[in-house]
Amino acid sequence: MADAEAPEIPCPPLNKEHRFLVYGGLTGWVGQKVVNMLEAGGYTVKGTQTRLENREALIREIDQFKPTRIINCAGCTGKPNVSWCDHNKEATVRANVIGCLNLCDVAFQKKIHVTNMSTGCIYSYNGPFKLQDGSWDVSDNFKEEDDPNFHGSWYSRTKAYVDRILFDAYDNVLTFRLRMPISDDLFRKNFVTKIKGYERIINVPNSMSVLYDVLPLLAAMSNTKYTGLYNFVNPGVISHNQVLDYFREILDPSLTYKNFSQKEHDEHVKIPRSNNMLDTTKLEKAAKELNLELPEIHTAVKNCYRRMRAKGSHKSDLPQKRASDKIATPEPKKKKVA
Ligand SMILES: NC(=O)c1ccc[n+]([C@@H]2O[C@H](COP(=O)([O-])OP(=O)(O)OC[C@H]3O[C@@H](n4cnc5c(N)ncnc54)[C@H](OP(=O)(O)O)[C@@H]3O)[C@@H](O)[C@H]2O)c1
Repeated sequence: MADAEAPEIPCPPLNKEHRFLVYGGLTGWVGQKVVNMLEAGGYTVKGTQTRLENREALIREIDQFKPTRIINCAGCTGKPNVSWCDHNKEATVRANVIGCLNLCDVAFQKKIHVTNMSTGCIYSYNGPFKLQDGSWDVSDNFKEEDDPNFHGSWYSRTKAYVDRILFDAYDNVLTFRLRMPISDDLFRKNFVTKIKGYERIINVPNSMSVLYDVLPLLAAMSNTKYTGLYNFVNPGVISHNQVLDYFREILDPSLTYKNFSQKEHDEHVKIPRSNNMLDTTKLEKAAKELNLELPEIHTAVKNCYRRMRAKGSHKSDLPQKRASDKIATPEPKKKKVA
């Protein structure tokens, strides 16, 4: 960690007997945050890098560590971004399909609950959206049971296929659909950092996940053994411009940005990206049952920036490094367009 540290994500009270095994917990962006949150809460937790496709190694590790809960934050997300998955389909399948199913199946045989991180980037608006009296009017609000209608990227397709198999066949699995995650720092995978770095941005309302708000729910829902599919985002939608407007208002008055149209955007990106609103009725109900806060996305983003201001965690460009960054394809120095 750099000197400007992100605030800790508060861990809710859980059963002290639990032993959490977190795949992707050693080098993954979200996985490390889950491990840190659970450790700070005083729970027994182990992050692991064991390859999901290696069934024998999974069995050995599970038999040795004897987890009472497994959290899967491992997955092929592509380097430098998900477009990589379209050119490396087999490797993506190995991790996101074969690997993920392997882990959930081994856990099923051993009667262990798995919380599995998936994506909400499997839907796309069917119609137009417009800003009316300060709030977005959108064509769709996708529920967990809706069939995916975004097939533009291989990454999204692998996740959507597996979600459905897990939901239909495994009663030991809780699947979360995370989207455009926002962290309390400026790590390169933070959605805010990404769009701040682009030369031009589209301005589309989207569901997004503020990690500070949703990860405590992950811990509490794993603890209580919720199962099935959950859209894992803050309620409401927020647009790219609004995310940066709040940043300028709260953290950096000098921030500027330029927009371009969806058509210009689509000509620039090689692999399409999904834009959507996810229904949060189920997640809000769970939050209520567990006495946890799940703020609406505009409040959540502003709260996130206020925490960053208080901690100074917006002052460091690289607050978190992971081992695999050493070998990762360097990101282009030039400002990107997306
Ligand atoms: N970040 C986002 O924008 C976003 C949005 C929605 C959903 N998600 C989902 O959330 C999860 C976590 O994302 P993230 O951003 O934290 O990803 P990340 O930083 O790219 O981390 C991925 C982790 O998965 C591990 N991994 C990759 N292939 C593996 C395999 N075959 N077997 C075992 N481990 C493997 C990596 O380990 P090595 O370093 O050893 O390869 C790394 O620890 C992923 O499932 C992702 O699809 C992410």
